[in-house]
Amino acid sequence: MFCVMIMIMRIDRLLCEMNIGTRSQVKDLLKKGLVTVNGRVVKKGDVKVDEKKDTIICQGKEYTYRPFFYYMMNKPAGVVTATKDEKDSTVLDLFCKQMKQTAGGLEGIPVKDIFPVGRLDKDTEGLLLLTNDGALAHRLLSPGRHVPKKYDVRTDLPLGAKEAKLLEEGVEIGEKEPTRPAVLERIGDREFFLTITEGKFHQVKRMFGAVGLKVLSLKRVSMGSLLLDKNLPPGQVRELSKEEVLTLCSQI
Ligand code: URA
Repeated sequence: MFCVMIMIMRIDRLLCEMNIGTRSQVKDLLKKGLVTVNGRVVKKGDVKVDEKKDTIICQGKEYTYRPFFYYMMNKPAGVVTATKDEKDSTVLDLFCKQMKQTAGGLEGIPVKDIFPVGRLDKDTEGLLLLTNDGALAHRLLSPGRHVPKKYDVRTDLPLGAKEAKLLEEGVEIGEKEPTRPAVLERIGDREFFLTITEGKFHQVKRMFGAVGLKVLSLKRVSMGSLLLDKNLPPGQVRELSKEEVLTLCSQI
């Protein structure tokens, strides 16, 4: 199971990108005759293959072409939404760690092409989509599409009716325009669901800040049709179901 955009490439590069092994491990597998392409043993790394058409079998396991991968992470606080970071542990580090613990491991996953869709602050938890589908990410993040994102927000103080109305109708957060209309649902005295259709930097915190409240905890619970799986503990990752992918792609 695997995809890269370039369809024709060297077999050794393809096997490395499929996470079958390191360059030297792949070289070794080839040398030992453990790789076949369309039924023929291939021992040389520079043999060109078309991953979309050719049948590639490595150590008895067939790798079939698969263009896109979609995962849901319940992002925990403390990790940064990035693929690489000098200082902090990233959601991609966590993704790799979690996937290594699954039955299939990272094998077949084009890890270097996987990225998080959008950004959650280091201290924000909840739904994060990881994929290699750039077109879907672009559509989900496009400001013109207004994909709704719902957050569970806990605040330091209760929210007055006037302030709630401001949040819903649009509040000044120091941008050119006030925020777009949002939907506020009260869960408790100091807990709310806020659904916004924009993605400005620290937007939810700044919106509550603008009406005098401090956000104590923030968790994203949905993005478009995609809902955070209630059975997915913080820090865990699972692949999206076909239905989730189809619904997500068809709604935007
Ligand atoms: N709004 C914020 O303030 N932080 C997030 O992480 C997401 C939305």
